[in-house]
This record gives sequence, structure tokens and C-alpha cells, in this order.
Amino acid sequence: MKICYIVAMEAEAKPFVEKFGVEKVESAFGKLPCQLYQHRLSEKDSLHIVVNGQQHGSSLIGCEAASITTLKAIETIQPDIVINSGTCGAFKKNGAEIGKVYIGNGVMFHDRRVMGDDKWYTQSIGNYRLSKLSEEIAAALNMPMGKVTTGSSLDIQPCDLEIMAQHGGELKDMEGAAVAFVCSLLDIPCLLVKSVTDLIDGGENTLDEFLRNLAHASEELSKANVRIVEHLINK
Ligand code: ADE
Repeated sequence: MKICYIVAMEAEAKPFVEKFGVEKVESAFGKLPCQLYQHRLSEKDSLHIVVNGQQHGSSLIGCEAASITTLKAIETIQPDIVINSGTCGAFKKNGAEIGKVYIGNGVMFHDRRVMGDDKWYTQSIGNYRLSKLSEEIAAALNMPMGKVTTGSSLDIQPCDLEIMAQHGGELKDMEGAAVAFVCSLLDIPCLLVKSVTDLIDGGENTLDEFLRNLAHASEELSKANVRIVEHLINK
């Protein structure tokens, strides 16, 4: 099985990359900044971790980079499954805690508003199908599940909150729906693994809270991903 991780930031991928001792493949994607790390797990299993790379001196985050990276990764690697691993904001009122890791049980965009037309509204919010392994993995590994909603901003505006509430959104990120969108077009199973860095209803400045908790949330993400990879290859 070829398992391909899509991770936005180097900091989110670092503990996982170090855990597996994976090797960087130089210039895997030509002039694009995304970086490929690979590791053979067994004769028939391989792990591929693709991070977005940088522009303007910082890790590329958001939907545009996630879409390009996912497309190039799928074309290059031809994976059996794509796993988007990253951080998210979540709600204290729903039981979220910093470093808690969830498996996505749904994914959509919360900031693409095209109201008044059913078809464009449906297209805009997305609601992409995720791998049927999502539920199985969550149950087998005793991990919580939640609906991921994706937008282009770290902060949250009242209209985003309203759409999240209308659709049962629990985990707010900046890439999940973009990765799932590309996977849906190319018919590749997609799994989402999200670790909480900040509490949307916690009253703190989101960026400060995100930066303070990034390393811890990424360590927890790595531990969850090790279990997920072991589960997938032992299936
Ligand atoms: N990634 C981590 N926390 C986030 C948040 N609150 N919103 C969007 N993406 C995030």
C-alpha cells in the first residue's frame, strides 16, 4: 500500500518525519516548493510525506498550496490513500482540548458563500466524501471523530461561525477541504487527521495560542499518525 501524507507546515510534519527516519527526495516536484519524504515500510508498503514548502520566508498554508501539493503528489506517487495531517481550531464547548487528535468524518468549506443558487451553493461548500476507512480507523484506534470545515483565514468571522453551526462543523482548518476536493476529482480515498492547537471559543488570540501549542499538537499528531500507518499496513 502506498500511503501519502499531505502536510502544510514543516513544523507539523517534523516529529512524524523524524519518527520514521524518512529520507528527503531532492527536486521531486521540479520548480514547485513542495518537498517529498519517502520511506519503505515493507516490501509492499511505502510511506510518502509531502509538505508544501515555503514562500516569502514562511511555510505555505491554505487551500491554494494544499491543492497544488495534493495534485502533484497524486500524479507523482499514485497513492492508494491520501492523508491530510495538520492542526486545527476546535470548540471547548464540544469537549476539545489542546493536542487532542481527531479523524475527520466530513469536510467542507465554511467561507465560500454563493447564496441563492442550489447548485453553486452545493459546489461551493463542497462536502466531499472521505475514505470509508475513516470510521474504521477511529473505532479501532479509539480516536474521536469530527467534521472539518476549511477556510482561508486563521481568525473566525461571525458568518463563518454561522455556517459551521448550520453544518455541524467542529474542526476548523485551512487545508482539509482543498485536499479532499482534489482527491474527489481523482477518485483517491482521503483521510483527515487533525490535532487541536487552539480553542475557537476560548477567548484567546488565535495566532498566539496556535504558535504556543504548535509543537505539542504536532507531537500528538505524530503519535496518532504512527498508529494509523501501523493499522493501515497491518490490515
Ligand atoms: N489551524 C490551526 N488552528 C486553526 C484555526 N483556528 N483556523 C484555521 N486553521 C487552523
